[in-house]
Amino acid sequence: MSVLNHDADDSAFAPEVYLADETATEAFGAALAGALEAGLVIWLTGELGAGKTTLTRGLLRALGHEGNVKSPTYTLVEPYAISRFSLYHFDFYRFNSSEEFLDAGLEEYFGTTGVCLVEWAEKAAPYVPQPDLEVRLEVSGAGRMLRCQPHNERGAACLTRIQKPR
Ligand SMILES: Nc1ncnc2c1ncn2[C@@H]1O[C@H](COP(=O)(O)OP(=O)(O)OP(=O)(O)O)[C@@H](O)[C@H]1O
Ligand SMILES: [Mg+2]
Repeated sequence: MSVLNHDADDSAFAPEVYLADETATEAFGAALAGALEAGLVIWLTGELGAGKTTLTRGLLRALGHEGNVKSPTYTLVEPYAISRFSLYHFDFYRFNSSEEFLDAGLEEYFGTTGVCLVEWAEKAAPYVPQPDLEVRLEVSGAGRMLRCQPHNERGAACLTRIQKPR
């Protein structure tokens, strides 16, 4: 089984995959972990309970983080120091207005070498920086449908680095 659905000849892929359960969401996060590079901004989009934090947990575990992965719903950002780069996990669900992004001084985290994973980015628009890559999760039956949307060359290059599991 491939992480992303590939054409028969493998020359092109549709960047979408069905995730049957929580373990599959974590496994996708782990695959994405291997494709990260410093400074990437990734939006994780999808409704409440779509699996955005679950994906982030799989990603962080794959990068060697052993502790809990808390939802940043109340703290707005959870920082992680991992070997190759810092990683910042954001959640703006509780914003009443997007100006809270500016009031909290969160721009400082972006445009550095840190990787930014953002849940509920739409609540901080237009102030939150645009993503290199958007990962959308949608409830589909008992599982989730995941679709990736690169927004620029960096995002597209990240997608192509997501390898099939060996
Ligand atoms: N592929 C999947 N199939 C079925 N259930 C899943 C899948 N991935 C994650 N879940 C479950 O979805 C639930 C919600 O996940 P999670 O907290 O990651 O969502 P979220 O998108 O971060 O939500 P929120 O917007 O509230 O932060 C969890 O109980 C998790 O086990
Ligand atoms: Mg969440």
